[in-house]
Amino acid sequence: MTTFTIIGTGNMANAIGGVLADGGSSVTYVAKDEVGTAPLAGDVVVLAVPFPAVDAILAAYGSAFDGKVVVDITNPLNFETFDSLVVPAGSSATAEIQAKIPAATVLKAFNTTFAATLASKRVGELTTTVLVAGDSSEAKATLISAIEAGGLDGIDAGSLARAHELEAIGFAQLTLAVGEKLPWTGGFAVAR
Ligand SMILES: NC(=O)c1ccc[n+]([C@@H]2O[C@H](COP(=O)([O-])OP(=O)(O)OC[C@H]3O[C@@H](n4cnc5c(N)ncnc54)[C@H](OP(=O)(O)O)[C@@H]3O)[C@@H](O)[C@H]2O)c1
Repeated sequence: MTTFTIIGTGNMANAIGGVLADGGSSVTYVAKDEVGTAPLAGDVVVLAVPFPAVDAILAAYGSAFDGKVVVDITNPLNFETFDSLVVPAGSSATAEIQAKIPAATVLKAFNTTFAATLASKRVGELTTTVLVAGDSSEAKATLISAIEAGGLDGIDAGSLARAHELEAIGFAQLTLAVGEKLPWTGGFAVAR
């Protein structure tokens, strides 16, 4: 059984935690006011918080991240303009996080699926698919196994460098929903 600690208690935290618990994983949560004091009990830590909150969380836990698999779900949008990402062109939030906690294994996942489609496990007629990128095949397989046990599909989307493309997909999907061109209960699906 994989053990997860989810930092955050919002829409994505609850949707992801629900899927993982459905699959038999152990899930604990760290609320905003517990950051730095509540332990990172899980082998896998999910950062289910806005991207601007991540730096302070990394600083609060420091070496407690060493040896953990850390899942970055953020879409690092410029929320003032909705017209760009706040990470440098060609890079990703995930790559920036990995550079700050080099003794952890950082994965990108869940950023291309809206919270509602994680909770419903469906995008239209299709099973919700989580795309997972990172440099550790073992860590990706562990996460995908837990996701699939919870009733979703998971795909290994490649190396940590692919987080850049996953963030572009998340960015495009988010702007479509904000523009009311697709519903928050829908989004991009994968037909296989
Ligand atoms: N919603 C989606 O469909 C979706 C899809 C893909 C990716 N994402 C990404 O998922 C992440 C979470 O989104 P969400 O929709 O779950 O947001 P949300 O419902 O607003 O939840 C955000 C969580 O982060 C906590 N938080 C906020 N600022 C914090 C800080 N400075 N330190 C510690 N915790 C903090 C919040 O605590 P409080 O409630 O106490 O403020 C809350 O528990 C974001 O990075 C977003 O880009 C969201």
